[in-house]
Amino acid sequence: MTCILGIETSCDETAASVVQDGLAARSNVIASQHQLHREYGGVVPEIASRAHLERISDIIEQALDDAGVSMSDIDAVAVGNRPGLIGSLLVGVSAAKSIAWSMGKPLIGVDHVQAHLYAAAIALPGKEVPPPLSYPALGLVVSGGHSSLYHVSGPCDAVTIGSTIDDAVGEAYDKAAVILDAGYPGGPKLDKLAQQGDASQVDPLPRSMLDADSLNFSFSGLKTALLYRVRGKPQGRGSDTTFLKSAADHSPEELANLAAAFQQAAVDAVIKKIERALDQLSAKNQPAQCLIVGGGVSANSALRRRSLELGEARDLPVHLPPMPLCVDNAAMIAGLAHHLLINGQCDTLDLPALATSKRGR
Ligand code: KG4
Ligand code: ZN
Repeated sequence: MTCILGIETSCDETAASVVQDGLAARSNVIASQHQLHREYGGVVPEIASRAHLERISDIIEQALDDAGVSMSDIDAVAVGNRPGLIGSLLVGVSAAKSIAWSMGKPLIGVDHVQAHLYAAAIALPGKEVPPPLSYPALGLVVSGGHSSLYHVSGPCDAVTIGSTIDDAVGEAYDKAAVILDAGYPGGPKLDKLAQQGDASQVDPLPRSMLDADSLNFSFSGLKTALLYRVRGKPQGRGSDTTFLKSAADHSPEELANLAAAFQQAAVDAVIKKIERALDQLSAKNQPAQCLIVGGGVSANSALRRRSLELGEARDLPVHLPPMPLCVDNAAMIAGLAHHLLINGQCDTLDLPALATSKRGR
């Protein structure tokens, strides 16, 4: 049996969790910073890292308390050390190193994106362990920083087969929410607004499919189309650009319908690429045994529904994380670290925090 303490501070959630055997979260503590960033309309890195610093010790203590364990019961300390905001990552990495050094525990650096692909394997405290992930799988990470498809051959093994050429889908949601004045945080607010609207009441927004066999994503055209639909054609150029209209010039019904049209176009594009990827893997005699979805946008109501429908139509198991494990959390970090620990992939105290996914060792 392993009992791993996970720490996650890559962006704007300070999180800690204790996970047993890589499957059962005994605690899952997440302190969101939405309130702190709301007035700026996005994450301010300096505010994020300061807030992590103020909160990290209490969050770790609470995760141990909730799990009913003490530091000496822990087999290893895992931390998301890449990719992310460097000042934010450094807080978690420093905390993990201090614990590992002072308690004499193994230290494990975990790739945050790979951890999103493992979140669906984990049971929340008091819940039943979900059906096991089977490999090889098609993986989809849709978050504020990533829209990528992976050929996943094991928990620690994912090869990128498609990614965004511009905005990540979560980023597009966040920007679209600003355009529609839907509130902050943008993704969940827009999702809620879209559920009140009817996409068929407005002209469809574009779905960017790129080349016929491309597994890459592009969301900037969709975002710009929505911008022009809401604000009208831009006047002037560069920093002098102005718009004749704003969200305030549209009725609440119209804004909800546009949100629904945005959601339909964004999710259509993602589903289409999943289908393409499944077909391409089958054509290469590497058929996926299942679809694993992770990242903040896996909380999206339309994406969850459409990916389950796709699974049913193709007789393919679809693994979606429970809602609290869609967004950034430390259970996915501790869960994946179980596999790294049993593979002997531990780190030394010079583990770096890295802004990108490159391992750097
Ligand atoms: O995985 P995550 O917490 O952080 C990153 O690793 O980026 O993902 C955050 C992203 C944000 O862009 C947020 O707006 C989006 O996930 N998100 C959603 C929903 N919930 C969160 N996007 C669409 N619909 C949602 N329900
Ligand atoms: Zn994330």
